[in-house]
Amino acid sequence: MKYQNPFTATLVAVRDRVARPNRPLPLSPADRLDGKRALVTGATGGLGRPIAEKLASRGAHVICAARSSAADIVAGIEARGGHADDRPVDLADLRSIDALVASIDAPLEVVVLCAGLVPAKSRPTVQGFDITIGVNYLAGAYLVDRLRAAGKLERGRVVVVASETHRSADRLDLDRLGVADDYPVTKALERYGYSKALLVTWAQEAARRFAPDVAVHTLCPGPVASSIAREAPAWSHVLLTPTMKAFFAPPDLAAEPVVYLACASAIDGQTGLYFHRWRETPPSELACDEAVAKRLYDTTLELLNERSRA
Ligand SMILES: NC(=O)c1ccc[n+]([C@@H]2O[C@H](COP(=O)([O-])OP(=O)(O)OC[C@H]3O[C@@H](n4cnc5c(N)ncnc54)[C@H](OP(=O)(O)O)[C@@H]3O)[C@@H](O)[C@H]2O)c1
Repeated sequence: MKYQNPFTATLVAVRDRVARPNRPLPLSPADRLDGKRALVTGATGGLGRPIAEKLASRGAHVICAARSSAADIVAGIEARGGHADDRPVDLADLRSIDALVASIDAPLEVVVLCAGLVPAKSRPTVQGFDITIGVNYLAGAYLVDRLRAAGKLERGRVVVVASETHRSADRLDLDRLGVADDYPVTKALERYGYSKALLVTWAQEAARRFAPDVAVHTLCPGPVASSIAREAPAWSHVLLTPTMKAFFAPPDLAAEPVVYLACASAIDGQTGLYFHRWRETPPSELACDEAVAKRLYDTTLELLNERSRA
C-alpha cells in the first residue's frame, strides 16, 4: 500500500531521504571511462542529465537519448572539452529504438537505462503496449537485446534505474505483459511500481545471462527533485512541488550512485548488484526468484520479437 498511494509514497520518500543521510560511495578519480562509449536513455531528465554529464567528465563519449533533443546538454559537455551526441528516441516505439541502435557506430561499454515516466493514465505505445510497461520496462529490454544482437554491447556494464516501488508487486502476470488495459489515475503509481518490478526482475536474469562480459546492476536513486510527477493531476502539485523541492535529493547528488555502478573499479568482476541510493541491499523476493525471472526474460523476448515484426 505504501508505494501505491501518491501521498503515502511521497511520505515514504521523504522519510527515506531524511533517515538515510548522504554517504557518497568511494568513486576514485582513477575510475575513468576514457575512450569508452556510454549510452544514457532519459538524458534530458532530472536524473539523466547529471548522469550524462558526470560520465562525460570521466572521459566517456556519451550518447544522450531521450524523447526530446539533448542538444543543450551535448553543447555543455563539449564546451567543457568532453564528447557527446544527441540521439532523440521515442522509447514508446520499437522502430525508433531500432533506428537508435542502427545509428550507434562503435561498441558501447556503458548503457544506463534511465528513461521512465509515471503517466496519469493508460495509453498505448505504437506497438500496443501499456505506456508505463512499454517505456519503463519493455523499451530497455528491447534496446539491450538489440544492442547485443548487433554486437554493440559485448563487454562493460548496464545500469538499470529502477525504484523501491518495485517492492509493491507480489506477482508478475506474464499472460498480460503485452496487453494495454485501461486503468484510472488512482492506479497509476501501482502500475509504475509493477513496471519497475518487471525491470528489476529482468535485470537479475540479464545479469546471469550476460556474465561474465557484461555486468548488470540496478538501483533506486531515492526521491529525486525532477520532472517525474509531470503528469500528476494539477491539484496535486500544490503539495508535490514544494515537497519535492524541499525534501527530494538534487539530481546531481542522486546521480552519484548511478555513476558509481557504471564505472567504479571497486565492483569490477561483480554483477547483479541492487542499490537503494548508496546502500547495497537485496531487491524484492519476487525479483530474486530465478524461475520467475527466467520465464519473464523469455516471455519478454518472445513478445518483443513478435511485435517488432508486426
Ligand atoms: N524522481 C524520483 O523521485 C525517482 C525515484 C525513483 C526512481 N526514479 C526513476 O529515475 C528515472 C529518471 O526519472 P527522473 O526522475 O529523472 O524523471 P524526469 O525528469 O521526468 O525524466 C524522465 C526522462 O525519461 C525520458 N522519457 C520519458 N518517456 C520517454 C519516451 N517515450 N522516449 C524517450 N525518452 C522518454 C524523458 O525524456 P523527455 O525529457 O524528452 O520527455 C526524460 O529524459 C526514471 O526511470 C524514474 O522511474 C525517479
